[in-house]
Amino acid sequence: MKIKDFAVERYFARYEFTTQYLLSSSDCDGYAMQDVLDLASDKEQNSWNELTLGYTETIGSDPLRAAIQTHYQTIQMDEIVVASPGEANFILMNVLLEKGDEVVCMLPSYQSLYQVAKDLGCAIVPWKPSEEAGKWDFNITDLKKLISDKTKLIVVNFPHNPTGYSPTLSEYRELIELASHHNITVFSDEMYRFLTRPDAPDLPAMCDLYDNCVSLWGTSKTFGLAGLRIGWITSKNKELLKKVEKFKDYLSICNSAPSEILATIALNNMDSLLQPNLTKIIDNCAHFAAFHQRHEQLISFHPPVSGSTAFVRLNMPETALHFAEKLVKDTGIMLLPGELFEYGQAHTRIGFGRKNMPEILEIFEEFLFQYNS
Ligand SMILES: Cc1ncc(COP(=O)(O)O)c(C=O)c1O
Repeated sequence: MKIKDFAVERYFARYEFTTQYLLSSSDCDGYAMQDVLDLASDKEQNSWNELTLGYTETIGSDPLRAAIQTHYQTIQMDEIVVASPGEANFILMNVLLEKGDEVVCMLPSYQSLYQVAKDLGCAIVPWKPSEEAGKWDFNITDLKKLISDKTKLIVVNFPHNPTGYSPTLSEYRELIELASHHNITVFSDEMYRFLTRPDAPDLPAMCDLYDNCVSLWGTSKTFGLAGLRIGWITSKNKELLKKVEKFKDYLSICNSAPSEILATIALNNMDSLLQPNLTKIIDNCAHFAAFHQRHEQLISFHPPVSGSTAFVRLNMPETALHFAEKLVKDTGIMLLPGELFEYGQAHTRIGFGRKNMPEILEIFEEFLFQYNS
């Protein structure tokens, strides 16, 4: 299978490790390994000390799946398969979809959520948001109109990257009822789970509410542990999970042994890692809101409902891509322009998970003053 370049990842490859300031990252600063080890129980510390670096179990170790299970209401140990998030997504699309299927997917979106399906020969039906009344909104009435007899899969991602959209609980249930009524599988990307502002509801994992659903979550965003490369899918559809497990034999085969132990510790101590991330996101969002007030003519900003990102509109006389290129060249600040999300030429993603955001905004502000004069 030939697959199109992953635009956001290619752009990151160009700048992430060479430029000084990242203003569009979706993850939070990575924790030090020692921060995680400091949280370990005696048993976990022993596992770490005695760790051997052989192959591990394809579906994930028992202690890791047991730790994952505690974060779901109904999911059993044999309803979990561990893999890196991108790998899980790639496998799932491959085992679930056939050429000619229709896949409804939110757009803009993390590219792999629709690109793998597209390159398998499926037709992608985009579920687009409106940007009115000061917020992003993915409307369920719009979604209803996109469903046909050929719809094989609905792909959603709440909290949503990049817009920060999240539905209310009743909208979430309405979506599930719609999928259930048509007996359509839902792939629910929950990578930003629990990165929820105090005034927004924490949505239950969709796999706990709908049997014909596969939920994806991992350590990269919620936990600030992207370097572990650990994610997992959870589903009541054990037959599907078995197919995923068998496909994985052709990819990583199994997970990194050190990462499995560190992920287990993290999952068993979620709040200690999550709360500082959440505080940072909320503080940075407030910083950005103040910054935005000073530049309202140039930037339209809808604060995210949840998640770690916002998708802001740039009211500039040039495309977002040109602007981003100029900015990174002049200041070392990297922005991800909307072109990389195949969503016009006017938007850019802002990420709130990095502690140096106030410093970056000062430099950005100076640039804007000069840009405007
Ligand atoms: C919505 C979404 N899903 C999946 C992923 C993949 O996660 P990871 O980078 O840990 O592979 C990302 C990463 O940005 C994402 O934003």
